[in-house]
Amino acid sequence: MIPAKRIHTVEEYYFSRKLREVRSLVAKGKPIINLGIGSPDLQPPTVVVDALEASLHDETAHKYQSYQGIPELRNAIADFYQKNYQVSLDAATEVLPLMGSKEGIMHISMAYLDEGDEVLIANPGYPTYTSVTKLLGAIPKYYDLDAESDWLPNLEKLAKEDLSKVKLMWINYPHMPTGAKASKSFFKDIITFAKKHEILIINDNPYSFILNDEPLSILSIEGAKDVALELNSLSKSFNMAGWRTGMVMGKARHIQHVLKVKSNMDSGMFYGIQKGAIKALERSSDWFTTLNNIYEKRRKLIWELATKLHCKFDAETSGMFVWAKLPKENTLSSEAFVDKLLYEKDVFITPGSIFGTQGEGYVRFSLCVTEEKIKEVINRIEA
Ligand SMILES: Cc1ncc(COP(=O)(O)O)c(C=O)c1O
Repeated sequence: MIPAKRIHTVEEYYFSRKLREVRSLVAKGKPIINLGIGSPDLQPPTVVVDALEASLHDETAHKYQSYQGIPELRNAIADFYQKNYQVSLDAATEVLPLMGSKEGIMHISMAYLDEGDEVLIANPGYPTYTSVTKLLGAIPKYYDLDAESDWLPNLEKLAKEDLSKVKLMWINYPHMPTGAKASKSFFKDIITFAKKHEILIINDNPYSFILNDEPLSILSIEGAKDVALELNSLSKSFNMAGWRTGMVMGKARHIQHVLKVKSNMDSGMFYGIQKGAIKALERSSDWFTTLNNIYEKRRKLIWELATKLHCKFDAETSGMFVWAKLPKENTLSSEAFVDKLLYEKDVFITPGSIFGTQGEGYVRFSLCVTEEKIKEVINRIEA
């Protein structure tokens, strides 16, 4: 059977391929330390796991659930947005729980893109925006980010281009992989830009509570709901990546469009997961303080490691990665540098080039490993 043409528009996800290689090295007895992947190794709040367990005996626990999530979860999301971002949302119409924000990228794209439509995507950026765009027959239109402009798009330059076919623009601040932050004034500018060019902006915001003193939502900007959606996630904020819990927020009309797609794709989120998610969202800010104390210690060690590798980094970033520039004297590509480290030191980090051409010459270190392991990596590099 010949598969659909669309599957030739994408390749197997880098991590799916590379982690197979890493696993085969582990199977051969190599003591690999994985600093590549952003899957939190820490536990979710205990109350979350307790809530899931307790929910299993509820009468409704095993039935199909509402396509929009249970009202209690939507209320918890709206309260969380009010408390942490000072954004008012109507829980009934402006909030849609998702099974991870990654699926939201597909649902939003399916709701808004026709074949041949263009989509503004950051280079470097999260590869899923590109794959989903291509799978739908739409066309990625990359905007370059660089260290000189603090990894923020140059909106003046973009405005001079032909944007007539652009329907969506993905932004993601705090930015993955660089950790760059956006200011309120940048968000104001991008909302003005979106209104002028009739583009729907989506801010993908899963990192705002990691090593960040000022969590910011694009929806806190006046008039943002007219032209912007925000994706968020419990994966990183509450160490719940495997739970697959995220959400999309925005104007009721936009959420309706996304729901129209989503309700034809799944039949609701497992009840226990929703009950656990509610407990996570209700946690007070001391949760983030404790979490960030751990990440801060790890990040210091990663900085030490990056320095040992003669890499340069910006200390003023957020999120759960350190983005580092390879040394001037290095002649290897990012991928070759990563492979050298993998095969000579049994350490896996992520090459910046998988995030786009602008990521060439950089590598990304994850903070999802214990201090002991990072110290071990430092020892291996010194040896
Ligand atoms: C920028 C960005 N967006 C979205 C996601 C997906 O997160 P989730 O677990 O909520 O699907 C990730 C995960 O690594 C990410 O880095």
